[in-house]
Amino acid sequence: MQTIDRLEMLRKSVAALRKDGGSVALVPTMGALHEGHLTLVRKAREAADHVVASIFVNPTQFGANEDLDAYPRQMAEDSAMLEAEGVNILWAPAESEVYPQGFATSISVAGVSADFCGAARPGHFDGVATIVCKLFHQVLPDMAFFGEKDFQQLAVIRAMARDLDLTRPHVDAIHGVPTVREADGLAMSSRNRYLSPEHRAAAATLPRAMQETVEAIERGAASAPTLASLEAALLQAGFDSVDYAALADARNLTRIESLADTPARLLVAARIGGTRLIDNMAVE
Ligand code: PAF
Repeated sequence: MQTIDRLEMLRKSVAALRKDGGSVALVPTMGALHEGHLTLVRKAREAADHVVASIFVNPTQFGANEDLDAYPRQMAEDSAMLEAEGVNILWAPAESEVYPQGFATSISVAGVSADFCGAARPGHFDGVATIVCKLFHQVLPDMAFFGEKDFQQLAVIRAMARDLDLTRPHVDAIHGVPTVREADGLAMSSRNRYLSPEHRAAAATLPRAMQETVEAIERGAASAPTLASLEAALLQAGFDSVDYAALADARNLTRIESLADTPARLLVAARIGGTRLIDNMAVE
């Protein structure tokens, strides 16, 4: 595995990989890798001839009072994990390489960014869309892999690729990979490591209560009181607050009151012990 931190070198190395005509997949990450990220890499390896993984803790997607400085950084460990998975190139640029002095551009995807995490974290999805667009242009992958755990992020990236006519990767080549969960159902996240043992145990209520909510709505229960019970169950279990617990149209993330013919998604963000956890589940 080649580790590269200069754009000029990245371009040369990706071009060299492409010499044999093989395809290239990109797996963008912010590091602090876990089994969820490694699953993305494995899917990418199955689908493409070559895999580029990126590690960049992107400052523009963190709000002023968020955890940018505390965000876990473990480059040596991450690099060893990616190498063991057969990644060809690790793209790990410095902040100055990505955002040189005078950088002034931001991509904002209206609509799909507005609600949920977009409302709770103003500017977050502008930062995500901007860095992902840059990564796409830097690597020019044939395809890219993202976790469904960040369901709204995936929708934002797909909308950006569609609206900006990205050809590499084009919108159908942006793959969402199902959430990888711990044994007790908690969605894997780099932020789970912030949880104290007590909060970690209570956090398992989130997927459990969500699963019960999905089943109730699928059985025909009205969504408003069912979502209210979900919020109450989280607060009862020790969560400090619930940013949102909502049913949405899975294609455009508009809120819906009841199941219709469109695929639906239960989306939740809740805070426990200072850590914000998000999760989502299909409702069919
Ligand atoms: O999901 C993440 O880890 C980040 O939001 C991403 C897509 C790598 C952009 O910084």
